[in-house]
Amino acid sequence: MDSVAQLTFIIFLSWISHVSSEAIIRLPSENEIPGEYCDSWRLAVETNNVGAWNQIPANCVDSVAEYMTGERYKRDCEVVGKFSLKFAKRVALAGDGRDAWVFDIDETLLSNVPYYKAVGFGSEIFNETSFNNWVKLADAPAMPSSLSLFKELQELGFKIFLLTGRSEFQRNVTEANLLFAGYRNWERLILRGPFDQRKSATDYKSEKREELVNEGYRIHGNSGDQWSDLWGYSVASRSFKLPNPMYFIP
Ligand SMILES: *[C@@H]1O[C@H](CO)[C@@H](O)[C@H](O)[C@H]1NC(C)=O
Ligand SMILES: *[C@@H]1O[C@H](CO)[C@@H](O)[C@H](O)[C@H]1NC(C)=O
Repeated sequence: MDSVAQLTFIIFLSWISHVSSEAIIRLPSENEIPGEYCDSWRLAVETNNVGAWNQIPANCVDSVAEYMTGERYKRDCEVVGKFSLKFAKRVALAGDGRDAWVFDIDETLLSNVPYYKAVGFGSEIFNETSFNNWVKLADAPAMPSSLSLFKELQELGFKIFLLTGRSEFQRNVTEANLLFAGYRNWERLILRGPFDQRKSATDYKSEKREELVNEGYRIHGNSGDQWSDLWGYSVASRSFKLPNPMYFIP
């Protein structure tokens, strides 16, 4: 080959290899690209397309661990907090002390990541005994974006209600933990009483929100990491869903 032909041939070869690597579309499979599969799985969880689930997929443990302990989770929560505040600033408060915002506690105001780190980030079936032992320590740190939102809502004039799936027997440790984490001056802490024990979170939380509405509160906003914190009836004008790929509560 002369040099022109040689060059043409080389260009042809590089064109072929370019096309072949560009044109082949390979669907990500669970085993080949766990990172991408697990991102899709997380999105499906957050949108509730997964529905009820009790364990994260075994091959997503590393991905969920990385997400929960990395910058992304923090940033995702910050974005939720910022949208919540934007909405809150647009609410015309009546100023009669009846403008309310409802917060869930676990994975909303307080982070149990130190506990979940020790139990495979949700890859193990939920163990109530060991979780309650962790709650007793009152050692859960604040979720930073929620702590800022909490304070800003108070400054705007909202009354803050804490509505948690934790039980009455955990009232003192929960208060101690909230204070330790920097939360102050909430209006009321609502925990599951003896008659709430067997209710789904959706039913229990809806009932409690309805009681607030019956007392004359206007629930403008509600923040939670579970759809069961947010939907049902007597829902807030706006609900804000924080991410949680570690567990699902019906
Ligand atoms: C649940 O946790 C408790 C306390 O850590 C432990 O004794 C028990 O064996 C655990 N149960 C299961 C099913 O793992
Ligand atoms: C909770 O704290 C209150 C007052 O601080 C105390 O009277 C009560 O005995 C405590 N309850 C439990 C279950 O520790």
